[in-house]
Amino acid sequence: MTKILIVLAVLLAAGVAAAVWLRVRAGRDVSATIPCTAKVPGKVAIAYYSQSKVQNTALVAKWIQKHVGGDLIAIEPTEPYPEPYFRTLATATLERKSGKKRPIKPTPSLAAYDVVFLGTPIWYGTYAFPVELFLKDNPLAGKTVVPFSTHGGGGAPLYERDVKAACPAAKVLPGFTARGSNQVERRLGTGVTAHHTEDDVVRWLNGIFGE
Ligand SMILES: Cc1cc2nc3c(=O)[nH]c(=O)nc-3n(C[C@H](O)[C@H](O)[C@H](O)COP(=O)(O)O)c2cc1C
Repeated sequence: MTKILIVLAVLLAAGVAAAVWLRVRAGRDVSATIPCTAKVPGKVAIAYYSQSKVQNTALVAKWIQKHVGGDLIAIEPTEPYPEPYFRTLATATLERKSGKKRPIKPTPSLAAYDVVFLGTPIWYGTYAFPVELFLKDNPLAGKTVVPFSTHGGGGAPLYERDVKAACPAAKVLPGFTARGSNQVERRLGTGVTAHHTEDDVVRWLNGIFGE
C-alpha cells in the first residue's frame, strides 16, 4: 500500500512538474498585449550574442525586431562555448583569468546603420566576451546604441557602464534587461519565459522611442 502511495505521489509530482515546464515553455510564444508606439529614427541593426541552448538573448532580439524592424546581426565566437552550463562557466572563467578570449567571426559592416541595439547574456555582471570583442572591432562612433541583455538573476549591474566606456563617441540610450535562465532552468531548457516579458520589451521601446 505504502509503495502504491509513493508511486502515485511521484507520478503526481512528475505531472505537476511537466505541466509547469510546458506552461513555462509556452510562455516564450505568448505575444505582447500592449501596442508598440515606438518609431526608431534611421536604419536599425540588432546585433546580439546568445550562448545557451535556450537562446534567451536571441529571443529578446527577435522581439525587438518584431516591434521596430531592423536587421538581426548574430555575433558568434569562431568556436562555440561548450554546454552544459558548468562547462560554459568553467571555460569562460579560465578565459577570463588568462585574458585569452576566443575570437569572434567577422560581422557585416555597420556603416549604414544609425541605431544599433546591442544584446548580450550577462557574464560576470557585464557583456559576454564575444560582445566585448565585437565592440573592440566596432566602437560605434556617431551611432545611437541601445543595450539589452538577459541575466540569471543578478541583473546587469555593469553592462551599460561598460558599453559607454567602450563606445565613447556613441549616444547610449537607457537599456533593458530581462531575467533569462539560472543554472537549474538552463538544465531544464527554459529561459525568458514569463508571458509579460515581451510586454516589458514593448514598454521599454515605447519609453525610449515612443511618439
Ligand atoms: C560564463 C557565464 C557567466 C554568467 N554570469 C552571470 C552573472 O554575472 N549574473 C547573472 O545574473 N547571470 C549570469 N549568467 C547567466 C546568463 O546571463 C543567463 O543564463 C542568460 O540569460 C543566458 O542568455 P543566452 O541564453 O542568450 O545565452 C552567466 C552565464 C555564464 C555562462
